[in-house]
Amino acid sequence: MGFPTHRPRRLRRTATLRRLVAESRPSVDGLVLPLFVVPGSSVVEPIASMPGVSQLSVDRVVEECREAADLGIPAVILFGIPERKDPHGSEAWADDGPVPRAVAAIKQAVPDLLVITDVCLCEYTDHGHCGIIADGAVQNDPTLDLLAKAAVAHARAGADLVAPSDMMDGRVGAIRFALDAAGFSELGIIAYAAKYASAFYGPFRDAAQSTPRFGDRRGYQMDPANSREAIREVLLDVEEGADVVMVKPALAYLDVIRRVREAVDVPVAAYAVSGEYAMIKAAAAAGMLDEERAMLESHTAIVRAGAGIVLTYFAKALARRLGR
Ligand code: PBG
Repeated sequence: MGFPTHRPRRLRRTATLRRLVAESRPSVDGLVLPLFVVPGSSVVEPIASMPGVSQLSVDRVVEECREAADLGIPAVILFGIPERKDPHGSEAWADDGPVPRAVAAIKQAVPDLLVITDVCLCEYTDHGHCGIIADGAVQNDPTLDLLAKAAVAHARAGADLVAPSDMMDGRVGAIRFALDAAGFSELGIIAYAAKYASAFYGPFRDAAQSTPRFGDRRGYQMDPANSREAIREVLLDVEEGADVVMVKPALAYLDVIRRVREAVDVPVAAYAVSGEYAMIKAAAAAGMLDEERAMLESHTAIVRAGAGIVLTYFAKALARRLGR
């Protein structure tokens, strides 16, 4: 097998040929748009570190969801920023919190759009950690009940899927048990299964006002050095009842996405996080690269690695570009 019989350039000759033979075909069907919900009405509060992304009150979230659905985007994921934060994050399971209110309003206005809710405490705790604290450390088992209560509150509001992002051990099982007990056995769990302790969450923490007041998240989120451990996390979550598993962040963890895709048969999602978005936006604003091409190329890489579902702040721009 060699030149001159074989000439790989033959199939790269024209745009139509390249389209015909493309191995990865990113589509609007796998896109999930993340949204930040705040109290109040008519609130559109731009997030400085994420150009083009804003915190939105429920009425504005509904508008954004209409636009997303019109673009063919199948799903949104909601993050809530509550009025008050406390040590237990009790607003996380309040039935009248920003997330349940947004879920109900979206399901009424745009019933076909899937609403996923992020289940975590860090947006709701005054210390900014994803669990409750005792003796200066995040307590695993007592946190599970609180996460389960939050998931059930989201379910009662009408969420289609819940997405635990806290990285406590056993939380998928605890949430599954609580959902079933409350009559929501049909509601699926998309688990942030391999979630790394990443610098790329920086802009999100501005958006969700969830930077830990002390310490960091390395005691519960994964060490970027590890990929075998990701498989262990994923298998545990599937065993506990995860319907979909997620790798997060995406671009710096393409090898992990690939390994996870090969290890399990459930759908695999990847989260192109705030810092990945901010990097492209900032470089493009500085004239250093072409935003549209960089967006498409990084998204294609995530799909090529094996993610069928991609959570991305570029969802609307990608949908416009990829069409239906
Ligand atoms: C909450 C959560 C985080 C993200 C999603 N869910 C932040 C964190 O773990 O600090 C990050 C998303 C992003 O950066 O876009 N636990």
